Amino acid sequence: MIGGLPPYLQRAMSALIERHAGDRHTVAIETTDPAHLAATRRRLSAAQRRCLAEVGFGAAAGAFALLHAANGELARVLVGVDAQEPLGALAALSSTLPTGIYHLADEGVLTDRRAAALGWALGAYQFTRYRAAQRAPATLAVPPADLAPLHMLIDATALVRDLVNTPTEDLGPEQLAAAVKRAAKTHRAKLREWVGDALLDANFPTIHAVGRASHRAPRLVELTWGKASDPKLVLVGKGVCFDTGGLNLKTGDGMRWMKKDMGGAAHALALAQLVMQAKLRVRLTLLIPTVENSVAGSAIRPGDVVTTRAGLQVEIDNTDAEGRLILCDALAYASEQQPDLIVDFATLTGAARVALGADLPALFANRDALAERVLAAGRAVGDPLWRLPLWRPYRQLLDSYLADFVNCGASRQAGAITAALYLERFVAASTPWLHLDTYAWNDADRPGRPRGGEAMGLRAVFAFLQERYAR
Ligand code: BES
Ligand code: ZN
Ligand code: ZN
Repeated sequence: MIGGLPPYLQRAMSALIERHAGDRHTVAIETTDPAHLAATRRRLSAAQRRCLAEVGFGAAAGAFALLHAANGELARVLVGVDAQEPLGALAALSSTLPTGIYHLADEGVLTDRRAAALGWALGAYQFTRYRAAQRAPATLAVPPADLAPLHMLIDATALVRDLVNTPTEDLGPEQLAAAVKRAAKTHRAKLREWVGDALLDANFPTIHAVGRASHRAPRLVELTWGKASDPKLVLVGKGVCFDTGGLNLKTGDGMRWMKKDMGGAAHALALAQLVMQAKLRVRLTLLIPTVENSVAGSAIRPGDVVTTRAGLQVEIDNTDAEGRLILCDALAYASEQQPDLIVDFATLTGAARVALGADLPALFANRDALAERVLAAGRAVGDPLWRLPLWRPYRQLLDSYLADFVNCGASRQAGAITAALYLERFVAASTPWLHLDTYAWNDADRPGRPRGGEAMGLRAVFAFLQERYAR
């Protein structure tokens, strides 16, 4: 709780504001590192140097020191940074420094100040739906030209975090669809939706099969935006609002965080919002297949065979491999439109986490040059991805004895790859396609990465799209 401030004032307080030339009374933050500490010290008063020595400030990355003027006022903040990691440089400060307004000093070792400001803002995020903010963020005053591009990324990241953090009771398929509708309204995009049995009428049988056991109807939401003559971009996101595993029920531990299984949908929606805000030169389609993977008498069973939209027959080996099932109808539909590019995001497999850990989304691509460009974009914006192969010989791991293939093989080896190979069957070989298997979650608090829902791979793909579809 922030000193008795009403909630509307708390929300109004932002981690970033515009900096103006005449501004006074904002506290300078100077970045430094062990190699530059001597030069930094020379700019200080004798009393301040003594203070630094007393607290043992060695400019290690993450260390910071508050320096005061003779009258006791906060005069300057020194922070040790790794100049190669600008995004993390200030990430801890916005939630640690005393509330007030700061700016980056002209002196300092950071070259990418915009990335540092982004890290500052990302570190100030708090999820306030169920309790008031724990504190007001410290505010960073940034050059006016930086504010709008930063706000887009900050809003998009907060949207992913908020949606993923919201429990299923408050974010079922209907509420997820409502979030897409809000974005459609803001950007005057067209919205279409197939709910419940309408999915069967419109030939989305696999989405229906996964979602039919829940009392909250499955749906497919489609947002379209942009000039029909521009290159077609389709974004797809896995919107499993809760994944019990279905009849192949997860264990308690395995189920605990499965409210986040719509993280792919949150990424796709946030990316669509960025594309529309940046007015990229595309005809955009956003597809969100959304369901609850629940247990009931009406649930799909292991051994059932489902005819997918594409006409391919899938034998259900495991009802917990449900993400690829809802995605395959959406990808088939996307592919029918012969787009310039399809990008899908999904919290698809535990195997991707075994391979790469929580922080590195797995990237799959059916074009090498495309993958290279996305990886490079991710490196450039501090949002790394790692590529895994669509290794053709592993397709046989999905052989079925009675249908075209199974949704998951008996062997769990290469689980992220076999899931991607399953999806690939529904994308025309002529269509460039990117698939991100992402965790969408921080297991613990770290600077700039609060515990809970997280955007991973979002800024990377957006940077890539900005390059590909610049106005
Ligand atoms: N939503 C899960 C994958 C998941 C689990 C992502 C934990 C992130 C954290 C997915 O639907 C699933 O259950 N996948 C199974 C696939 C298996 C049955 C082939 C998995 O990864 O175990
Ligand atoms: Zn599952
Ligand atoms: Zn799932």
